[in-house]
Amino acid sequence: MNLAELNTETKLCGVIGYPLGHSLSPIMHKSAFNKLGLDYDYLIFEVHEQEFSSAFEDLKSKGFRGLNVTMPYKLEIMEYLDNIEASTRDIGAVNTIVNDDGVLTGYNTDGFGALEALRSNGVDFKNLKGKILIMGAGGAARAIAITLTKLGAEIIIANRTFQSGETLVNTLKNIGTSEAIKIAEISENIDEVELVINCTSVGMHGGPEGSLLPEELIRNDMIVFDIVYSPKNTPLLTVAEKCGAKVIYGYEMLVHQGARAFELWTGETAPLEVMRQAVLGELG
Ligand code: ATR
Repeated sequence: MNLAELNTETKLCGVIGYPLGHSLSPIMHKSAFNKLGLDYDYLIFEVHEQEFSSAFEDLKSKGFRGLNVTMPYKLEIMEYLDNIEASTRDIGAVNTIVNDDGVLTGYNTDGFGALEALRSNGVDFKNLKGKILIMGAGGAARAIAITLTKLGAEIIIANRTFQSGETLVNTLKNIGTSEAIKIAEISENIDEVELVINCTSVGMHGGPEGSLLPEELIRNDMIVFDIVYSPKNTPLLTVAEKCGAKVIYGYEMLVHQGARAFELWTGETAPLEVMRQAVLGELG
């Protein structure tokens, strides 16, 4: 991509990360810009680690309006920013940047995206009787666990590396109730769980195969949410649906976190349905 070719009137947004071949963000955001007739563009900046610093400084000097930041730069990017929004500081990772005349502010829209995916699928936290089982303790799990704990949810973190689960629970201690367990201990705790959220890469296209939640542990009164969006029907969601559980697809979180970024950049209400259809068109 040659930045010099860009019309200077066009506001530049994009995603920076590595690798980025599979990103659905360009089609999602471009559809939204087109729908609202906004003179914005959304590009992919696939940048190797050795080039990250110079590539980011170059982008900044060209005056981008907004960026999504993805793996592996969600932590590193924080040292390049002027401000970090308060709740994002608690999460400790940035996935969205807004550039206001050279002043860069970092946000994390993952927790918001997950929350809206749940709410728009009828999950009302006030009426949730059981606990929430979060599988995973990486960046996305952290953002989602902090967001849901702040709302009063009781969380169980099950992670392959138990110690990372414990570290997350230590962070959550200041805001609510949570405990860390091993993946093998899910069966002993599942009776009190009403909502399961997979925040690991298990089941992702090109990632580890299968599901961390055995079929015999899924009940038809459960809600099962997989933040993996490709494939749309992950092994976890396929089995959960077969068991009669309510399923929530990962693309819902992608769309809602994208909508939040869109609104931060443009100040306009995001055309959610346009964004959802753009993503679904790619996922099939
Ligand atoms: P993200 O930013 O998307 O959350 P991440 O921070 O790399 O990505 O986190 C990936 C999560 O998937 C972690 O919880 C990881 O578990 P570990 O902490 O043990 O690494 C989990 N994960 C990845 N591959 C896994 C596998 N094969 N089995 C179980 N968990 C796995």
